[in-house]
Amino acid sequence: MTSILKQLKTSVSQALVAAFGSELADTDPLVAPASNPKFGDYQSNAALSLAKKLKRSPREIAQSIIDKLEVDSICETPNIAGAGFINFSIKPSYLAAHLSKIQSSDRLGIEPVTLPQKVVVDFSSPNIAKEMHVGHLRSTIIGDAIARILEFRGHDVLRLNHIGDWGTQFGMLIAYLRETYPEALTTADALNIGDLVSLYKKAKVRFDEDPEFKETARKEVVRLQAGAEDSRHAWQLLCDQSRREFQVIYDLLDIKLTERGESFYNPLLLDIVQQLEAENLLEESEGAKCVFLEGFTNKDGDPLPLIVQKTDGGFNYATTDLAALKYRIKEDEADRIIYVTDAGQANHFAAVFQVARRAGILPEQVEVVHVPFGLVLGKDGKKLKTRSGETIKLKDLLSEAVNCTRKDLETRLAEEDRSETEEFINNVSQTVGISAVKYADLSQNRTSDYKFDYDKMLDLKGNTAPYLLYAYVRPQGISRKGNIDFERLESERQISLTEDAELVLAKHLLQFEEVIKEVEANLLPNRICQYLFELSQKFNKFYEDCPILNSVEPQLTSRLLLADLTARTLKLGLSLLGIKVLERM
Ligand code: ARG
Repeated sequence: MTSILKQLKTSVSQALVAAFGSELADTDPLVAPASNPKFGDYQSNAALSLAKKLKRSPREIAQSIIDKLEVDSICETPNIAGAGFINFSIKPSYLAAHLSKIQSSDRLGIEPVTLPQKVVVDFSSPNIAKEMHVGHLRSTIIGDAIARILEFRGHDVLRLNHIGDWGTQFGMLIAYLRETYPEALTTADALNIGDLVSLYKKAKVRFDEDPEFKETARKEVVRLQAGAEDSRHAWQLLCDQSRREFQVIYDLLDIKLTERGESFYNPLLLDIVQQLEAENLLEESEGAKCVFLEGFTNKDGDPLPLIVQKTDGGFNYATTDLAALKYRIKEDEADRIIYVTDAGQANHFAAVFQVARRAGILPEQVEVVHVPFGLVLGKDGKKLKTRSGETIKLKDLLSEAVNCTRKDLETRLAEEDRSETEEFINNVSQTVGISAVKYADLSQNRTSDYKFDYDKMLDLKGNTAPYLLYAYVRPQGISRKGNIDFERLESERQISLTEDAELVLAKHLLQFEEVIKEVEANLLPNRICQYLFELSQKFNKFYEDCPILNSVEPQLTSRLLLADLTARTLKLGLSLLGIKVLERM
């Protein structure tokens, strides 16, 4: 459905042409929701931006636009404010009609795009035999939300887990296994080699202390790369074990991913180096093969290299990313490729994208985006650690969120003198706890660092998952109490909006589509969080100000419809963030 914003934009564009001629056909009508409700619902700044070009005063221009504007069916007569802003106030009858249309649609009137793209979202991507840390948690949560939003818009999304399953660390690990668990190189059955992280640590100590072991490790890499059966076997074992551990986290978070690790691109690496060579981009620097970057310089102003083949002949992270990029474009036929990692990798991606463009791997029409995010810090603003100073395991972090929720819930049940089954308590704690972690992450502007704080993320009065989930539960409570089946509310019955709180809520409901489209483009899911938070606030105000079950027709049905529409908007919006609603909590 065409959103109000879009209709106003079209109308202003048409008025611009009618008033000043077709040269202005491509002028941005600069319509946006009004910053302050005092000025109406929407505002256009077009007149101000045209003053210079048209050599007339903005107010004069604004008047000429208004004279040609045809928006009678949508809003009251627009007025001019201040230096030449045009203000629009939407007619309640129009709001009501628009809401009724949305009400009857499963997708709340938000159509899928007409030209779906093939989009690769590269996210989560932890490393084998290393800890999946909070950085990977952020990538997982943000990447999943982005994928969900694009899927909802109708794009064909490939969710790729670019697992770090290759590299020199495997030489060290396998050499260590050979010493300590020789069976790992032969037995066919999965073998429990215990905690991989401590295995990694122990192997690292051996590696750092014993030059002989270091040499064995180096040879082991060569064996593995040459495809030696026992080395492959041990490698597989390490990968399987890690994969099982990652899966626990993905199950808890309800994340779907297709694994395509770094090793997948091995056979394609040499070809990349050859292509760079053929394009005359390759240079040698201190024995390594590299491409010198444009616009990236060191302290002395010399161009920085992107190394693609090391002195020992080995390839690296960047080579793999170039090969992956090529594969995703040629084989997956991606139109847009999105990488979700911490901001620390910004230079890496900028360099890879540049080299790929120069080498002809990355054509003009394919869009590549690095979606960076900040660090996760403890409550104290320092690195997240356990009380004894160790890094926190993701699993523990998540179960702590569930435990805190359970405690809060039990206190609340006691206060309200309510008794609930163990199953109910488990389910609510699990859903709210996990949702709170996801929402706390997503509601931040992702580029800033954020403090991980259980009290804050579970605060029932803040911009938190529990607050939104409560707003959803309220309409469900009304339906139970009044014995009302929202699905069967007669849709012919008009929505009628009279009270302030009703109008404010209605207008907000109608902005959902615009917000989703905005996030589809700018990939900032916190905008959806902000929208849903404000929706919950406006709904709560409506709930306080306007009696629902105690009102009479036509208000009764109209208000029930508003409550239902709010709930459905919350449910859909939260689902795009990977958050499930509860009917009762
Ligand atoms: N494994 C990497 C890490 O842990 C992230 C990989 C991101 N994706 C990519 N195509 N480079 O930092």
